[in-house]
Amino acid sequence: MMDAEQIKEKVKTIIQLPALPSLAFEVVELVDNPKTSASQLARIISADQALTGKVLKIANSPFYGFPKKISTIDFAIIVLGFDALKEIVISIALVSSLQKRTDNYFNTKVFWDHSIATGVIARRLARDIGYRVTGEVFVAGLLHDMGLSILNKYFNAEFRRIVDINREMGLPFLEAEESVLGVTHAEIGSWLGERWNLPDQLVETIRHHHAPERAGENTKLVSIVHCADVFAKQLSAEPVEFDGENTFSEFALDLLQLNDQNLIQEYMNQYSDTLKNDVRESMMMSNLVGM
Ligand SMILES: [Fe+2]
Ligand SMILES: [Fe+2]
Repeated sequence: MMDAEQIKEKVKTIIQLPALPSLAFEVVELVDNPKTSASQLARIISADQALTGKVLKIANSPFYGFPKKISTIDFAIIVLGFDALKEIVISIALVSSLQKRTDNYFNTKVFWDHSIATGVIARRLARDIGYRVTGEVFVAGLLHDMGLSILNKYFNAEFRRIVDINREMGLPFLEAEESVLGVTHAEIGSWLGERWNLPDQLVETIRHHHAPERAGENTKLVSIVHCADVFAKQLSAEPVEFDGENTFSEFALDLLQLNDQNLIQEYMNQYSDTLKNDVRESMMMSNLVGM
């Protein structure tokens, strides 16, 4: 029997994790450099036509709620700011490098709708509980399950076995993952996050989104994404067949002071409306990632 460390090494060598596209890296570095000017950033993004089109599509979506049409990158930078732009570029890069077609084992649309819903709700929830909102909240929600797309894309045989075990024997999804791989999609996603040098709080969120009490420094962000994940699953029109449990962690509820059935129900109603309003956007995002 291999121990977890050996499995990790094996997983890392088998799956040949994809690299974050270099243009995205460049943008992230520019944004993080206080000396960067808006025109420098605009020049880099505008040089890539496909990226420009995608950025403008997202910038014009209600996620950002800007009433006037944003038709140039320069204008997008002025109205949205550097951080929002960084968030958009990272999301586009990650989402497009992990995409794969739908089959009987993995419904790509359900997956991305779940990911987007979690991102949208995480941002709302952060605002609702007065968490200092950073650009990372939406991205953290969007990416929390990226281990699942890695599994599906790079460990397809194992992924199918996990789904079969889950469907035929009724073993909870996370336990089925453990029984086949010795680890879950949460750890696998966090390894890719490390490999891509994503910020620590993102890696930690991906790693602990099913067990926020295990998070070290960023328990609040991890708890927000955990709760957003559960809200998103409970509100999903189609069942999210993969992924872990459908119940809130007591730890996260206590930490966020949400331990009140009425309050949860109130948020559930509000977020249900949020998602309905964002259905059009969600479809747009699906188009964006090429489904
Ligand atoms: Fe999830
Ligand atoms: Fe998950």
